[in-house]
Amino acid sequence: MGAAVVRSCVLPVSSVSGEITTIEAVNGRVAEAVKGAWIAGDVPQCGYCQPGQIMAATALLRVKPKPTDADIDEGMTNICRCGTYPRIRAAIRRAAEELES
Ligand code: FES
Repeated sequence: MGAAVVRSCVLPVSSVSGEITTIEAVNGRVAEAVKGAWIAGDVPQCGYCQPGQIMAATALLRVKPKPTDADIDEGMTNICRCGTYPRIRAAIRRAAEELES
């Protein structure tokens, strides 16, 4: 069974069964590409939302390796109060390109 991406701020841990993965344990080829693209694109501003953004981007690219803008808009619903959305989108595209090569 695949992993579900959920927001920990609105999910009581008592309702979870199975394994929980947090940003500290997100790894693998896709996650490393995303993290590298985040650094290369200097994506974070305050950083508050970034763990969720990185986890959502990793989940998106695992399902859609070549996401369109619409796919990104649909898959990336986390709020960023700093408005880093253009950099997030660029980083997802960069990660997708790196994974394709
Ligand atoms: Fe500040 Fe997203 S970087 S809330």
